[in-house]
Amino acid sequence: MDLVVDNEKDARLERIDFNNLGFGRYFSDHVYVSDFNNGKWSNGEVVPYANMPFAPGMSTLHYGQSIFEGLKAYKDFKKGGLNIFRPNMNAKRLNNSARRMCIEEFPEEQFIDALCQVVQTDKIFLPQEKGQSLYIRPLVFGDSNFLGVHSSPTFKFLIMTCPVASYYESGLAPVKILVTHEYARTVEGGLGMAKTAANYAASLYAGRMAKEQGFQQVLWLDGSQKKYIDEVGAMNIFFVIGDEVITPPLDSGTILPGITRDTVIQLTKQWGLKVNEYRISIDEVWEAHKNGNLKEVFGTGTAATISPVGLLSYKGESITINNNEIGKISAKLYDHITGIQHGLIEDTNNWNLHLDI
Ligand SMILES: Cc1ncc(COP(=O)(O)O)c(C=O)c1O
Repeated sequence: MDLVVDNEKDARLERIDFNNLGFGRYFSDHVYVSDFNNGKWSNGEVVPYANMPFAPGMSTLHYGQSIFEGLKAYKDFKKGGLNIFRPNMNAKRLNNSARRMCIEEFPEEQFIDALCQVVQTDKIFLPQEKGQSLYIRPLVFGDSNFLGVHSSPTFKFLIMTCPVASYYESGLAPVKILVTHEYARTVEGGLGMAKTAANYAASLYAGRMAKEQGFQQVLWLDGSQKKYIDEVGAMNIFFVIGDEVITPPLDSGTILPGITRDTVIQLTKQWGLKVNEYRISIDEVWEAHKNGNLKEVFGTGTAATISPVGLLSYKGESITINNNEIGKISAKLYDHITGIQHGLIEDTNNWNLHLDI
């Protein structure tokens, strides 16, 4: 496909402060767009990033039929070019979310091709420092103009990109997390396993309460009994208890199947650690802490890769984990995964999609 865009002419590059990128603040110059109409997805094209017209009756605005993905491209410090980390997993997860939300699936091959087109077009936006990256946000939503609760017959698929800072601009640092027993993000049979707008809308109020009390994130328990651990706002969660690495299993359907979660499970197994996907309760975590067996807690996600947890607070009682220091397993995982992403550690699992650009 011919790209009728001119990087130099369209670039907003000069306005970007690469030393102060933050997250989601700056957009690259282009967006990939494909439309689902009359039973099929259009070929798609890369167009300048600009406001789009929408009808006031657009179904997504009313009924939230919207799904998205999040992945990153990293500068490869050895080979040059860049690496997109495990994009096939995002293509598959997008379609799992699509099925749950009655959205038309997007062909996996076209998804990967679209990623490559948009990243290549805006390659000048790829940040050059370790830890920084080009965040890639695919989005699909129903765009028919018709009121009445229904599944939209038409959809729009977009990919936008943003140069983003390292999550830890001043180094890997433990976070404080509030375990909420008041609010629920999802329940069994709900939408938890889908990366859909509603889950994030459902999380905002508890997130605000947590921030007002000095916490960075909320840890969600299962929505019905408020007993078992589900996940954090935008991360999966791991506990190192004794010599076991424990994370909640996905079969409840209430947890987003994180790609970093899968990466961590595979790596820790390959390193010979004991890994247990097990429905752990908050009481067991507290008990393990009392017995001195709770060695590390860390979150996993594309944004931070590994996020060590220094403090958990539940029903007014706080526990400090590993003296609020970064645990050995957390640090090793962070170094190893970011090393692979930047081409500094051999990618023995073939996780990177490398582009020479
Ligand atoms: C609710 C939720 N859980 C977990 C994750 C971690 O998923 P991943 O590792 O694929 O980024 C995310 C991030 O996208 C998320 O939003």
